[in-house]
Amino acid sequence: MRSAPLTLLLSAFLCASGCSDGGDGGGETGGAGSTSGPGSTTSGPGSTTSGPGSTTSGPGDTTSTTVGPTSGSGGAGGDMAGSGGMGGGGGSGGSGGADARRIPAASASSLKEAGSKANPPILIGAAISGSGLNDANYKRVAAAEHDYVTAENEMKWDALEPNPGSFNYGAADNIVNWATSNGMKVKGHTLVWHNQLPGWVNSLSGSTAVEQAIRRHIENVMGHFKSKIKHWDVVNEAVITNSDTGVGNPRMRPSVFFNTMGERFLDFAFQVAREQDPEAKLYYNDYSIDALNDKADFVYNMVKGMVERGVPIDGVGFQMHIGPPNNEAGGPDVAANLKRFSDLGLEVLISEMDINRCGGVVTAEEQLTYYHDIVAACFALPKCVAITFWGINDGRSWLNSWSGALCNGQSSQSLLFNDQYQKKETYNKVLDALLGR
Ligand code: G3I
Repeated sequence: MRSAPLTLLLSAFLCASGCSDGGDGGGETGGAGSTSGPGSTTSGPGSTTSGPGSTTSGPGDTTSTTVGPTSGSGGAGGDMAGSGGMGGGGGSGGSGGADARRIPAASASSLKEAGSKANPPILIGAAISGSGLNDANYKRVAAAEHDYVTAENEMKWDALEPNPGSFNYGAADNIVNWATSNGMKVKGHTLVWHNQLPGWVNSLSGSTAVEQAIRRHIENVMGHFKSKIKHWDVVNEAVITNSDTGVGNPRMRPSVFFNTMGERFLDFAFQVAREQDPEAKLYYNDYSIDALNDKADFVYNMVKGMVERGVPIDGVGFQMHIGPPNNEAGGPDVAANLKRFSDLGLEVLISEMDINRCGGVVTAEEQLTYYHDIVAACFALPKCVAITFWGINDGRSWLNSWSGALCNGQSSQSLLFNDQYQKKETYNKVLDALLGR
């Protein structure tokens, strides 16, 4: 039963030095890989050790756990060495040794049990909406299967600080209090993002005004949740390409932050977040950086620079929105991509996973393969500390009503539970991968 992951890892080992997508249907992804200088240079060292198995042990290299974030980050690095600090329980053997690999639970009756009993553990997350918490079945499934929560919209800038210096925590508190009362951890999402930004922020002019706004927002929000939230998406989606699939002319995204402060807004946001909470895990989060493509290469170089400058970044979230409007990424490419970020000494997270079937771009069979192989890629990497699904059930998916997702009123069929909250075959594939099968 372990043959599938081994095949996957062998493919990842081979593809790390630049092969194409291997027929997973992600033409854009494979093509873009040819531009990936960073991918080939960083994947080299990890793959020189001992064949396919080394792809699992690579991220645990002791050298990688001491790189970058431990220096000059004012406390971020101390808890970088393993994932025990996030997941709780186990993990002592975690990602420390050269032979480190994740040991699966023998069995599990829920996703969160499979994740928490793995060594090192993996948090199993879901995006939770305030409206969903009015639905008893939604709440039941969310709490039974997950131990990690991201508020889908309620912690974005427009929700929390609609007017300058005036904070509104009601909807976010509802979700955070529900999560913590159910023993779930929370990732704050998201502090600095160009989207769902109130008009007054977009109207600011001059770098001083923008810096002050960023500082006030981060200090207030992280301060409010300090006792309950220790993981933050500090900066979200700062990079664009010519298409949402991550291909063509990768560059910093124009925004009020970049337009006034330049690229240093990233360092600034992470530094303010670190000052506010020396113990928190601080993440950069983006879409269509899941496989080896132009955008992933650009983000790789961007965060590598941050690590080298001692900016207190602890990890990178790979949103893993697969299918329209975003990229299509197969397991081997994802495995190679996650590994090169992990080799920088960073945690990696699958942070917003769903696989859209609208438009027939991703077939039912491909969806099952992707769900299994992408989760297996995270499982194989000890520094992959969390997998979050972007919603609970198909009927509530953001994709159903998102222009560009090609759904036109149809269900995206993108998640692990159907509209009656029954487990789908996608759920079984994810559970298999979490159990190392
Ligand atoms: O709340 C209003 C409601 O009052 C109004 O009647 C309705 C009419 O359009 O809109 C409602 O707001 C919508 C909101 O979701 C809550 O449902 C917005 O229009 C809609 O744009 C918004 O979409 C969210 C999207 O982020 C916005 O960028 C999605 O729910 C949310 O899933 C999505 O999440 C993002 C992550 O934060 C970052 N990564 C990508 C991911 C998917 O786009």
